[in-house]
Amino acid sequence: AQRILTGIKPSGTPHLGNYAGAIRPAVEASRRADAESFYFLADYHALISTTDPVRVQRSTLEIAATWLAAGLDADRVWFYRQSDIPEIPELTWLLTCVAGKGLLNRAHAYKAAVDKNNADGEDPDAGVNMGLFMYPVLMAADILMFKAHSVPVGRDQIQHIEMARDIAARFNHLYGEHFVLPEAAIDEAVATLPGLDGRKMSKSYDNVIPLFAKPAELKKLVFSILTDSRLPGEPKETEGSALFQLYQAFASADETEAMRTAFAEGIAWGEAKQAVFEYIERAVAPMRERYEALIAQPAQIEQKLLEGAEKARAIATPFLADLRHAVGLRRLD
Ligand code: TYM
Repeated sequence: AQRILTGIKPSGTPHLGNYAGAIRPAVEASRRADAESFYFLADYHALISTTDPVRVQRSTLEIAATWLAAGLDADRVWFYRQSDIPEIPELTWLLTCVAGKGLLNRAHAYKAAVDKNNADGEDPDAGVNMGLFMYPVLMAADILMFKAHSVPVGRDQIQHIEMARDIAARFNHLYGEHFVLPEAAIDEAVATLPGLDGRKMSKSYDNVIPLFAKPAELKKLVFSILTDSRLPGEPKETEGSALFQLYQAFASADETEAMRTAFAEGIAWGEAKQAVFEYIERAVAPMRERYEALIAQPAQIEQKLLEGAEKARAIATPFLADLRHAVGLRRLD
C-alpha cells in the first residue's frame, strides 16, 4: 500500500491555502484504494509559535472539524493529534542525536529569523526558541514514525521533507534500514496559494482568507485582493495575478481556460472578483455547513481523535521498541 501522511499546525484558523495546498489533495489521495493515510494535528509544533493555551485548543478543534468537513473518513484513515502519541517526542530525541546542527542551521524558518535579527542589528538568535530550531526534527519524527512514502504539502514544506529524508538516511546508515525515505507530493497549481496582498497566504503575513468565512465576509475579502490599475477593456496579466491563481485553485481546467481568455480580453477587475468569490463559495458552502454542525459537537471530535490515537499507537509503540533496541537502549515492550 502507498502510505500518505500530512499534518497541520493548530495555531490559528484554517485558511484557503491550507485547504488547497494540503487538505484537499490529502482527502482525495485517501480515497484511493491502495492508500493508507495518516492525517494529524501537529499541536506540538503549534507550541513553537504560540504560548496561548486557549488558542491551541480552539485551533485544534477547528482544524479537526475542517478535516472531517472536507470529507475525511476517520474510520478509513489514521486521524489523530500528534501530542496523543508520546512515541513521537521520544523518536524526536533519537533523531536529534543523528541530525547535524549544520543541517538545521540551514532551515528556512530559522534562517529567516536569524537574517531578520541581523538586519535589525539584534543578537542573531534573539527571540528564537529551541523549538523553532528543532522544528524539522520533530517533523521528521512525525513522518518517519509511520513510514510514509508520500507527504502532500504546499511548497513551503518541501525543505522540511528533504531534511526528514536526510535524517532518515543517516539513521538507516548507522543502525540499519528502519525508515522509509519520504517524498513531498506537490500540486503545482496550488503549491503556493497567494493571499490578499499577493504574497503566500500565511497567518504570519496577516493576509489570509479563512476557509469558513461567512459569505459576506468572504466576498469582502475577495474584493480586497490586490490588483493593478488596468481599466475594464484593457488586457490583464494572468501571470503573477493572485486573483487568477485563486480562481484556478477552485475552478475546473475548462473554467480556468475561459478565465484566461477573459483576462486577455480585458475583463473588469470587479467582474473577475465576483467570479472568484462565486467559485470559492461554490466549493466551500457545503463544507461550511458540515463544519458548523461538527464544531458544535466537540465531544464527538474528541472521541474520533482518541480512537485515531489508539490506532496510531498500535503502530508507533512496537516500532519505537525496535528503534530503541537498534540504538542500544532497553527494548520497551
Ligand atoms: P502549516 O500548518 O503551516 O500548513 C499546513 C499545510 O498547508 C500548506 N499551506 C499552503 N499551501 C499552499 N499555499 C499556501 N499559501 C499555504 N499555506 C500553508 C502547508 O504547506 C502545509 O502543507 N510543518 C507543517 C505541519 C507539519 C507537517 C508534519 C506536515 C508538522 N508535521 C509532517 C507534513 C508532515 C506546518 O506548519 O504546516
